[in-house]
Amino acid sequence: MVKALIMAGGIGERLWPLSTKKMPKQFHAFGDSMPLIVQTMNRLRGLADRVYIITTFEQRDIFNQLIKEIELESLLVEPFGRNTAPAIALASMYFDPKDVMVVLPSDHIIRDLESFQKIIWDAIREAQTHDVLVTIGITPTSPHTGYGYIERGKAFTVKRNSFCVKKFHEKPAFELAQKYLRSGNYYWNSGMFIWRTEVFQKALEKFLPDVYNGLKRAFDGENSIEEVYKGFQSISIDYGIMEKANNALVIPSNFYWNDVGSWDSVYELEEKDTNGNVIKGKFVLHDVKNSLLFNMTERSVRISSVEDIIFVVTSEGTLLCHRGESQKVRELLK
Ligand code: GDD
Ligand code: MG
Repeated sequence: MVKALIMAGGIGERLWPLSTKKMPKQFHAFGDSMPLIVQTMNRLRGLADRVYIITTFEQRDIFNQLIKEIELESLLVEPFGRNTAPAIALASMYFDPKDVMVVLPSDHIIRDLESFQKIIWDAIREAQTHDVLVTIGITPTSPHTGYGYIERGKAFTVKRNSFCVKKFHEKPAFELAQKYLRSGNYYWNSGMFIWRTEVFQKALEKFLPDVYNGLKRAFDGENSIEEVYKGFQSISIDYGIMEKANNALVIPSNFYWNDVGSWDSVYELEEKDTNGNVIKGKFVLHDVKNSLLFNMTERSVRISSVEDIIFVVTSEGTLLCHRGESQKVRELLK
């Protein structure tokens, strides 16, 4: 069976003050009228035999209130977040060894459904017929340091346009990212992974044995999931497994992809008015251009004579920065 697993336990802190612990990014609508998580679920129609979501205990109630489309047994809940490696590992324990897992982030925008589904089908075929960890690559357009980079090796299956991964580099420093961009042999990691449960668990046992053995103990009834989780380090699938594995493949994609990772990504994807502004909520503006302006309050906001700014006000707080600088929100929050 093909089982989709949507990872939905993150907070999306770079979209503060809209995305918060009480209402994380995946529950907000961007680039569409539907919340990102519902867009992700809809994209999987006809692809997966069953769709699962893995989230944390903290977010369980938001799911129960907001996302009526989810059957209760498809919502897997971690006691608390330990990043994506433990999350995927826990979910894998509920699946059969031969199941193909299609692991997806919950908070991206993808356009061109047909092309997305075709590439995922190609990835599923690779995972069914080979012991491989398949990733989907995005052609980079800037030396972005918030993404993983996948270095392409030799061709693997020509008719599916898949390549061996020479090396996986999670979130490089700026200078390295510039080098990767110039080389032409690198893709951004889209954060989607396709593999058979047994192939993933073999890599997990090899590279993160504490997580593998802890979960085995929990599923054998020796410990509770909470007990073993307490001992886990927080580690992403990218650092924990993908950087170390030697059986990864990449399939380059050609659909529109935006990870809505920062306010700059939101500006890029939303429709602009004739002044180049993206505006949500109440504003009185005079001579404001090429800016993103969100007012999620009832308060009156008046702005004059500025260009290229990001201004977001919610009941949680207010953010003001230059366009192009919104990656720094994370540092501001510290
Ligand atoms: N269940 C659960 N538990 N889900 C989690 C947890 C957790 O502890 N932490 C994160 N997630 C979910 C997020 O909600 C998101 O859907 C997905 O896992 C990826 O996590 P992010 O925190 O958004 O990762 P990232 O954006 O920094 O980096 C990843 O995605 C990039 C593309 O957007 C990496 O895979 C990069 O290599 C990649 O380029
Ligand atoms: Mg992300």
